[in-house]
Amino acid sequence: VDTAPHFLPYQGSKRRLAHHILAHLGNWRPARLFEPFAGSAALSLAAVHRRQVAQVVLGDSLAPLMQLWQSVLTAPDSVANDYERLWRGDATFEHVRARYNAAPEPVALLYLLARCVKNAPRWNEAGAFNQAPDRRRRGVAPDRLRRQLRAVAALLHGRCELRVGDARQTVADATAADLVYLDPPWQGTSSGRDRRYHAGFSLPQLLELLNELRNRRVPFLLSYDGQLGERRYGEPLPLALGLRRVMLDAGRSSQATLAGRAERTLESLYISAEMPTR
Ligand SMILES: C[S@@+](CC[C@H](N)C(=O)[O-])C[C@H]1O[C@@H](n2cnc3c(N)ncnc32)[C@H](O)[C@@H]1O
Repeated sequence: VDTAPHFLPYQGSKRRLAHHILAHLGNWRPARLFEPFAGSAALSLAAVHRRQVAQVVLGDSLAPLMQLWQSVLTAPDSVANDYERLWRGDATFEHVRARYNAAPEPVALLYLLARCVKNAPRWNEAGAFNQAPDRRRRGVAPDRLRRQLRAVAALLHGRCELRVGDARQTVADATAADLVYLDPPWQGTSSGRDRRYHAGFSLPQLLELLNELRNRRVPFLLSYDGQLGERRYGEPLPLALGLRRVMLDAGRSSQATLAGRAERTLESLYISAEMPTR
């Protein structure tokens, strides 16, 4: 199979959906692909791998995550060495987590994500990483990770710009020749005791961003809300935005499989009217 390299295990990664999403580009080749809620940047990696774009701009408001990206692109082996030291070392997950919360160190974040439950970061009210370790898994083995890190660095070499900060700021210079792919935290995932993301992105903030992109005629694709079996997540976006909505099959949910149900997860993809291929 023609799979793009990736190094970051990240819940919500669009790895499995990337080719469905990229199919909506048709033969169009945007000048740049912006991914302002980058996370593991699965879509950008797939798009460069498939030669659908030659330049990507990645941004995320989680600063240690973007520092990690910076190290991966400039010194993949040094990241691999640091990870290997943590992975083989005596420090417990809890110890690494406590150290990370006192002084966020990018490779410690990689280790925590690789080893925690569902590879899903959770943050408490004070902004500290509070996800628990997955006792059944040790996290990606250092050799395998090293190969992935090198492959990601080679793939994106000279093709990638990194930014730290709010999504709106990241796309400030996107134009009608570019494509913006948005994968913000979904409704209901940014609040509560264990928040899935360190920063929230409210629906009004999202609508403001979408309107701004429309006014500037910047084409965009948006992953937002979805459906698991009969259960729906979030309200559909206002029709007035003029978006086309398609449903993508994200496969069987692992939770449903555990519970013996054959439910499939459907994710919405919203396509802006400015998409040249629409
Ligand atoms: C659903 S995840 C993106 C996953 C990504 N598509 C992937 O393939 O891994 C959402 C990301 O948005 C980031 N985030 C949350 N609020 C943000 C904001 N206001 N601006 C930029 N990034 C934000 C989070 O740190 C998280 O990495």
